[in-house]
Amino acid sequence: MTRMTRREFAVVAAGATLALPVRAQAEPLLARAIPSSGEALPAVGLGTANVFNVDNEQTRQKATAVLQALVAGGGRLIDTASVYADAEKVLGEVIAPAGLDGKVFIATKLESPDAAELKRSLARLKTGKFDLLQLHNVRNRGQSLGQFKEWKAQGICRYIGITSTYHQDFAAVEAVLAREKPDFVQIDYSVDDREAEKRILPLAAEVKAAVLTALPFGRGRLFRAVHGKEVPDWARGFAGSWAQFFLKYLLGDRRVTAVIPGTSDAAHMTDNLGAMRGQLPDAEQRRKMVEFVEAL
Ligand SMILES: NC(=O)c1ccc[n+]([C@@H]2O[C@H](COP(=O)([O-])OP(=O)(O)OC[C@H]3O[C@@H](n4cnc5c(N)ncnc54)[C@H](OP(=O)(O)O)[C@@H]3O)[C@@H](O)[C@H]2O)c1
Repeated sequence: MTRMTRREFAVVAAGATLALPVRAQAEPLLARAIPSSGEALPAVGLGTANVFNVDNEQTRQKATAVLQALVAGGGRLIDTASVYADAEKVLGEVIAPAGLDGKVFIATKLESPDAAELKRSLARLKTGKFDLLQLHNVRNRGQSLGQFKEWKAQGICRYIGITSTYHQDFAAVEAVLAREKPDFVQIDYSVDDREAEKRILPLAAEVKAAVLTALPFGRGRLFRAVHGKEVPDWARGFAGSWAQFFLKYLLGDRRVTAVIPGTSDAAHMTDNLGAMRGQLPDAEQRRKMVEFVEAL
């Protein structure tokens, strides 16, 4: 089992944001430092693609329960995008009524550095500023983050980032990451999709970009692969569920800052947040996890 390093901190359970040395807490939750600032970010967040698509009462109730579970379980990070159907709008409608203003870290994405799109996202999320503003699906080596940097300088966002989950675009992601040195990069990474280990993660570490892992369950593919199977005995010491098994594989890589599993289910949110507790798999255990998943 690996121990947390000095770059990792414990955060107090129940959503408090106080960062303390890891051994000072009885039940520490894993948080990692955003390299560009040193700010500690709880290592399990929430993805919102395809989960809050339709703005109606039922979705708002579900979103409220998921967000309350996120914060109650010590999480903060919510990842959304201007193109996730009604997700930004639903979040904007539920955050304040749920009493979560100032308790969440909002990351959204724009399709381009377009002021009208930015204004729409700010209005839908009912906020004057974002924590993280990402350029969605980078596909061109020449894409500039100049406008995003200007918005950051104006205080419209605290951090900027880029994203992609298309491996054919990873060369463009690498070029933009190396040249623009954003605070964050978000890529697809899961125990059965490890292309990012070879390409994006080493460069992210070099340019000191925080890493968010999209699609940590392969859009649910990993749960379908283990359907009817128990977590193996050798993994039970660090994974209390399949979700924790899959997420801890990712968090076992120190270059990963946070995972952002998508869920519309509060109980699943709590399960996922459990990956911030206890031991992480070491290199040998991570190799075994890959072998196990490849044999499914
Ligand atoms: N280019 C980009 O920037 C990009 C692209 C894709 C995704 N993303 C981001 O990455 C996030 C994650 O990706 P994703 O949501 O598409 O896929 P995912 O996180 O890999 O998988 C989500 C699926 O897992 C299920 N699930 C979640 N927690 C579970 C648990 N504890 N037990 C059992 N099932 C569970 C969800 O169902 P339930 O709702 O029933 O829990 C859902 O079907 C997105 O939401 C988005 O924020 C970014």
